[in-house]
Amino acid sequence: MSKGSTSPVSGQPAATAPPAPPRPSPGAVRLTVNGTPHTVRSSPDTPLLYVLRDELQLHGPRFGCGLGQCGACTVHLAGNAVRSCTIPISAVGDQPITTLEGLGSPDRLHPVQQAFIEEQAMQCGYCINGWIMTAAAFLAKNPNPRDAEIRTALSGLICRCGTHVRILRAVKRASAVRRA
Ligand code: FES
Ligand code: FES
Repeated sequence: MSKGSTSPVSGQPAATAPPAPPRPSPGAVRLTVNGTPHTVRSSPDTPLLYVLRDELQLHGPRFGCGLGQCGACTVHLAGNAVRSCTIPISAVGDQPITTLEGLGSPDRLHPVQQAFIEEQAMQCGYCINGWIMTAAAFLAKNPNPRDAEIRTALSGLICRCGTHVRILRAVKRASAVRRA
């Protein structure tokens, strides 16, 4: 019997070792999304948006311009609203990611989600992820904003349907609910 097959404690033949858990391949990127850890297959330079949508099947963040200009792809990175189309997954590190799917739940909507419904702020809905995620991050840090501050926080987001007035009303409603 070879030495390698004997237990150093009991001197008995060693039990067969359980199979080792699969190791992430070299260079694999780990992401924590909506509280769940993932090891993703995509290459480290892949934009976060593509991984969220194509690999993790999270379709809240949308592809609009792909250039960081419209905001449709916005997610939270460690609580900050960022445009996921321009961030490679290698730059995320251990910062937690929250997408629209993780902001609230069907049973317990985030106040911004609820306000968008109550104000009927959506028309086609394509842009709405960006507005909701940006507003939610902003209100978390500024619970009692003035109108001008809301406008500044949301500047740079684009709605091709032109529902800006209803969107602003929804964000104001959400800020009032959060203060109540
Ligand atoms: S798709 Fe990311 S900013 Fe337009
Ligand atoms: S609701 Fe259609 S693009 Fe904004």
